[in-house]
Amino acid sequence: MAAVLPEAARRRTFAIISHPDAGKTTLTEKFLLYSGAIQEAGAVQSRKSARSTTSDWSEIEQKRGISVSSAVARFEHDGTVLNLLDTPGHNDFSEDTYRVLSGVDAAVMVIDAARGVEPQTEKLYAVCRARGTPVITFVNKMDRPSPEPLEILDNIEEKLGLVGQPVTWPIKPGGDFQGVVDRRSGHAFRFVSSGRAGASRAQEDEGGSEDVPEEVAEELELLDAIGADVDVETFLAALSTPVFFGSALSNFGVRMLLDAIKGLAPAPYPREDVDGDPRPLDAPFSGLVFKVQANLDPRHRDRLAFVRVCSGRFERGAPLTCARTGKRIQAKYAHAVFGRERETVDEAFPGDVIGLVNATDLRAGDTLHDESAPVTFPPIPTFTPEFFATAHPIDRSRVKQFRRGVAQLDEEGVVQVLRHPDIGDQAPLWAAVGQLQFEVATWRMEHEFNAPVRLEGTRFDTARATDEDGVAALAGMRDVEVWRRENGTPLALFRSRYVAERVQRDHPDIPLSTLMLG
Ligand code: G4P
Repeated sequence: MAAVLPEAARRRTFAIISHPDAGKTTLTEKFLLYSGAIQEAGAVQSRKSARSTTSDWSEIEQKRGISVSSAVARFEHDGTVLNLLDTPGHNDFSEDTYRVLSGVDAAVMVIDAARGVEPQTEKLYAVCRARGTPVITFVNKMDRPSPEPLEILDNIEEKLGLVGQPVTWPIKPGGDFQGVVDRRSGHAFRFVSSGRAGASRAQEDEGGSEDVPEEVAEELELLDAIGADVDVETFLAALSTPVFFGSALSNFGVRMLLDAIKGLAPAPYPREDVDGDPRPLDAPFSGLVFKVQANLDPRHRDRLAFVRVCSGRFERGAPLTCARTGKRIQAKYAHAVFGRERETVDEAFPGDVIGLVNATDLRAGDTLHDESAPVTFPPIPTFTPEFFATAHPIDRSRVKQFRRGVAQLDEEGVVQVLRHPDIGDQAPLWAAVGQLQFEVATWRMEHEFNAPVRLEGTRFDTARATDEDGVAALAGMRDVEVWRRENGTPLALFRSRYVAERVQRDHPDIPLSTLMLG
C-alpha cells in the first residue's frame, strides 16, 4: 500500500460547473489538447455536433443530439493526474448532474464574461456550497465585449455570495482585450485574437513581460490595497474563489487554469463516513457509487456503475462488498470511461473514477469497500424535484411489467417514484429535477420493460423535503399533499412555489428543505 498516499497526493478530481454556452465543452477540449490526451480539436463532441456523428447510441440521444452519458476525462498536467467529471447540463440536466458533484474535490466555474452568473451555475454552485466543495472561477470569452472586471466580481458576489479573488487581471482598454496581468508575478501576458485554437500550447506559454499598461497598474494597486488576494482557508470552505480571466476558444488562460487546479485545488482527502469519522486515504479500498448508468446502446446492454475511489488501491478482480446489501461484487470488469470509449483498468487510487460493468445490484449513493474494512459513506444529497407526472401503463394487461420497470427505474434513480398513502401503486407519481429524466424513463419502460407508459400532468410543481413532524403539521392544509418515496421518506408537494413559501412563512417550525438526503 506504500504507493497509495503519493498517488493520491498527485491527483485532482474536479468538475466544470457552468450554464450552457458558457464554454465548458471548448475549455474541456483545450485541457485535453494541452495535456496531449487528444491530438485534434473536435474530439470532444459538443451537443451540437454529436447530432450528426452519433450512430451507435440511444434513440433519445440521436433524436435530441445530446449526451445522456456522463463522461469522465483523465489527463495529466505537469505530473498531476487530473480527473474531470462531466456534469450534464441544459436539456440533459438531471439528478445525475448533482450526483456527479459528490464525486469531486473541487469545481471550475466557467462564466461567460458578458452574461455573468446564470441560473444553472447558481444551482450547481448551491451544491458546491452545501458540500463545501472549493470553486475556481474562469471568466471566459474575454475576447468579446464584457463589463468591467470589478462588475463581474460584484456579480459573482451578489448572485452567489462568493467573494472573487482575482489571480489574473484583464488588460482591456476601451474594450479591446489585450491580455492579462498575473498578479502574483506582476507579469503581463499578451492576447492574440487569432489565437491558437486547437493548438496544444496555450497563448501564455509564450511567457510574460513586465510591461504593464499604466491604467491597469493603477487598478492592480487598488486590488493590492483592498487585499483581494487568494485566501486558501475561505477558498477551501467554498466561501471565496480565485478568479482567472481568459478565452477558451483562443486558448488564452488555459494553462494558468490548469496550474491553479494543480496548485490550489485539494488532493483527495479522507472522506467522512456516516458517523463523521474520516476514512484514511491509505485504509483498505473504499469507493462511492455516484452514478449508475443503464447503457441504452442496444449492442452493449449493460449497466455501468461509476465509482469514485475514496481510499486504498483498487485492484481489478479483488472482491468488494456493497455496504448496503452486504453482497460481494467481483470487479472483474472495471473500466476507465471517457465518453463512449472504455479502457480496462487494473488499478486505481483515491480520486480516480472507475466504471464497473454489469454491477446490477448497485445504486447511486452506495459505498463499496474491501471485505477487511467495512465503511459506509453518507447518502448523496440532491435537490427536491421540480417536474412531476403521473405514470399510467398504456396496456392494462402489462401491469406486472409496469411495476417491475417502475421499481427498477426508481432504484437506479432515473426518476424518483412517489406514492400517496391512499392511492398506492396504481398510479405512482414520477418526480425529477430535469425533464430529460422522464424521457429516459419513458423510453426504457417501452423498450426495456415492454410496458409503454402514458404520462399525465399533475397539479403540483414544487416539492420540499420534510420529516414526520412536518407531515403531521401539514395534514389537512390546502394545496399541499405528502407523498412518500419507496424508502418511506416523506416529500411535501405544493401546487406552486408560492404556496410552499406561504406555508413556510406562516409555519416557520415546519422543516421544508430543497435539499434531500438519500
Ligand atoms: P458549453 O459546452 O458550455 O455549452 O459551451 P461551448 O464550449 O459549446 O461554447 C459555446 C459557444 O461559445 C461556442 O460557439 C464556442 O465556440 C463559443 N466560445 C467558447 N469559448 C469562447 C471564447 O473564449 N470566446 C468566444 N468568442 N467564444 C467562445 P457556437 O458558435 O455556439 O458553437 P460552435 O459552432 O463554435 O461549436
